[in-house]
Amino acid sequence: MPIRYPVSQPVLLGNEKSYALDAIETTWISSNGPYIARFEKALSDYLGLDGCLVTNNGTTALHLACLAMSLKPGDEVIVPALTYVASANAVSYCGARPVFADCDPDTWNLTLDSISRAWTDRTVGVMAVHLYGLPSPVDRIAELCSKRGAWLIEDCAESFGATVDGRQTGGFGDAAVFSFYGNKTISTGEGGMLWVRDRQARDHARMLRGQGMDLNRRYWHPVIGYNYRMTNVAAAIGLGQIEMVDHHLAERRRIALRYRRRLEPLAARGLLKLPAQIEGYVSTHWLFSVVLDHCGPEGRDHLMQRLAENHGIETRPFFVPMHRLPMYSEGQSLPNAEFLGAHGLNLPTYSGLSDDDIDEICVALEDAIEEIVIRSPSGDKG
Ligand SMILES: Cc1ncc(COP(=O)(O)O)c(C=O)c1O
Repeated sequence: MPIRYPVSQPVLLGNEKSYALDAIETTWISSNGPYIARFEKALSDYLGLDGCLVTNNGTTALHLACLAMSLKPGDEVIVPALTYVASANAVSYCGARPVFADCDPDTWNLTLDSISRAWTDRTVGVMAVHLYGLPSPVDRIAELCSKRGAWLIEDCAESFGATVDGRQTGGFGDAAVFSFYGNKTISTGEGGMLWVRDRQARDHARMLRGQGMDLNRRYWHPVIGYNYRMTNVAAAIGLGQIEMVDHHLAERRRIALRYRRRLEPLAARGLLKLPAQIEGYVSTHWLFSVVLDHCGPEGRDHLMQRLAENHGIETRPFFVPMHRLPMYSEGQSLPNAEFLGAHGLNLPTYSGLSDDDIDEICVALEDAIEEIVIRSPSGDKG
């Protein structure tokens, strides 16, 4: 059956088309043009972060963030084991070493304990990720880092609009990065954003973004830079998206609430775990996700296949933990990340998914769990 419910899809309901068309008609299609400054200002205003810099994707923004922190070979950065690979790779691009910390089994994010266990005398910083949209305890991680003289980068690729005690994620550390890939809360197709607290380091990142060219002297390149710029067309789409962000966030709240209500009976029977709810930590519900406690990786794959083939419902497994990937494997054991990587499942989450759609997805999920876990568990209890 063709996919009827993808895990995510961009929803372009506002001025995206007219702004992008304007960029094309005025011929400002490259990385100059008015939409870049307008999108950067809109991001700064929304997030409450001065001097946001847009980039061509979130990964390059992470690389610039690491460079802005003067990360160098020999340094170590604590990165959650359960994240998307770009968080770790950005550290490696600088010749430094990502050291993986385990996550909390309920929040799926870093904890102060797991960070402390991973800390060595080479640790220069922490990269905190807000996995699937739920903020990690960045307020407390920021305190820990500043006490120990280390920096904090927030990888907010998945958390646009999430808050901690009413404050947007992104403003707790020394730098923050967002992604505007097509599956994110707001999208520019490919795109990203960087914010750096220190003004001098921010200017350095801006220079590195634009081929290392001096900000006040054309064709004078005092350092080896990169071309990590966003195009005006992408920024035009981004401006249309951010104008609608409150709508998209409200949609995600409605969707998460509906999933939670429909799946609570399964959770009460111990057949799955729902995302944690922590007072003061407001998720953006990037991808509503569940953990299938009694269904190991093979059972989960079977369940995903069944949902896709019989119902046209796309789901995704949680990320493979970083320390299990060939380039980062050193034989570490980080049991929570491993368990979640093997049992976690992302469900369709995008604005416009109706309550009826969610009900249909939940019925199909319930049937699949009954079949795979209860009626024919086949020894795959993970
Ligand atoms: C946690 C995390 N960090 C970084 C990125 C990288 O962003 P991009 O795909 O825009 O390069 C992603 C993107 O999917 C992500 O989920």
